[in-house]
Amino acid sequence: MKTTKTYKPCDLVIYGALGDLSKRKLLISLYRLEKAGLLEADTRIIGVDRHAHDNAGFIEIAHKSLQAFLNDDIDTEVWQRMAARLAYLKIDLTQPEQYQQLYTVTDAKTRVMVNYFAVTPFLFKNICQGLDQSGILNGDARMVMEKPIGHDLKSSQEINDEVAKTFTEDQVFRIDHYLGKETVLNLLALRFANSIFTTNWNHNTIDHVQITVGEDIGIEGRWEYFDKTGQLRDMVQNHLLQILTFIAMEPPVNLEAESIHNEKIKVLKALRPITFNNVAEKTVRGQYTAGYLKGQAVPGYLEEDGADTQSTTESFVAIRADIDNWRWAGVPFYLRTGKRMGYKRTEIVINFKQLPHNIFSDSFPDLPPNKLIIHLQPNEGMEVEILNKVPGIDEHIKLQQTKLDLSFFETFTQNRIFGGYEKLMLEALRGNPTLFISRAEIEQAWTWVDSIQDAWRHTNEKPKPYPSGSWGPVASVALLARDGRAWEE
Ligand code: BG6
Repeated sequence: MKTTKTYKPCDLVIYGALGDLSKRKLLISLYRLEKAGLLEADTRIIGVDRHAHDNAGFIEIAHKSLQAFLNDDIDTEVWQRMAARLAYLKIDLTQPEQYQQLYTVTDAKTRVMVNYFAVTPFLFKNICQGLDQSGILNGDARMVMEKPIGHDLKSSQEINDEVAKTFTEDQVFRIDHYLGKETVLNLLALRFANSIFTTNWNHNTIDHVQITVGEDIGIEGRWEYFDKTGQLRDMVQNHLLQILTFIAMEPPVNLEAESIHNEKIKVLKALRPITFNNVAEKTVRGQYTAGYLKGQAVPGYLEEDGADTQSTTESFVAIRADIDNWRWAGVPFYLRTGKRMGYKRTEIVINFKQLPHNIFSDSFPDLPPNKLIIHLQPNEGMEVEILNKVPGIDEHIKLQQTKLDLSFFETFTQNRIFGGYEKLMLEALRGNPTLFISRAEIEQAWTWVDSIQDAWRHTNEKPKPYPSGSWGPVASVALLARDGRAWEE
């Protein structure tokens, strides 16, 4: 990754500036970048939305968003600096002539125009047409977009085709906010800066890999979106597959975007398709029922506000994924993600192979294999489970399972990345595409996910119920038990 500290100042235009994404994530990240002194002095932030406000009205909304979502005191001096960058334009995104207003606040001669599409993809075409018609874009301009980029391969191609009429691929920055998370980035360091792992990262030493992204939240008022989407499309197509590519990719020749994208796409291409013939043994779909979380009673999926009580949308998925290449032959990757699980936990467990022979069988008949556990969130850190001799002068050597434990909180005092958006927002302003997703990756991920979705449609089975607060349906345990394995709990 390039570590350029300075970059050309930007006109960051947020379309959908009054929407949820902008208020909950983008404005908060910009404040944190401001606080960290990482926004170029001349960078401007222009909110665009269809509601009537002047600059002062937008500044007030931004301040209220910080009060609601920052989870920290607002530093007055930092806020004043940020507020001075803010401007607002009322634009009906479907009316191309209204984009002319952008000329009043942007300056293509001295600043790069970064267009953040924080709106539904239905409006992408309108924004592109409006920008084209206004003639305001030059070759330096960028556009940033994020999921959902379609709900299947075809719709994602349509969106990408539409955007491609206005922006070239190297002007497009597709966000997966997991790639801005410190611990996901650390996978690169772990794998490619440590010979102990680099040399052992393959089917000779690794038995299987588990990736768990468990959330305690439910649908949180997003029924409309979520019920049409489901956990497979909402989480697996993007976040889980991105984590998988970071674990499974070959060493890139360097940290340039193209090198990394090339290696990731090879992993996605090597994913063995899951079809009607094997979907029942390779996947589990679940839907949460009422239960308890942190001692509180919570409703089931079908009892959420606005729910269609007949919905068969899954809120939980478990998958056995196989990567058909030399490195990973015979090493399953078990993926599991769900809403309303016991607690929020994103974790990767690398399970190493059991030793072929045990010389400690007198005291320890079954030598448990080593594990590398990477906690992505919360409590970021890493643990290596090893066997150690219990101190003592007994005749027999006694062994005990112990942990080498690295907590990022305790080890590093530096400023931390919070939700991933700060890092990605900054990289978009810097124009560094390394941590963004290429069109080829998105489309390859959809190809794999579409096949699963089609197979589910054909089997027409309802998702299996699981109580809120648990770790999914019993069938998810059986998925691993069939292979003689168990989820890390
Ligand atoms: C989003 C999904 O992409 O990621 C949400 O749409 C999910 O459903 C969220 O809750 C999880 O993100 P994080 O950073 O909280 O793990």
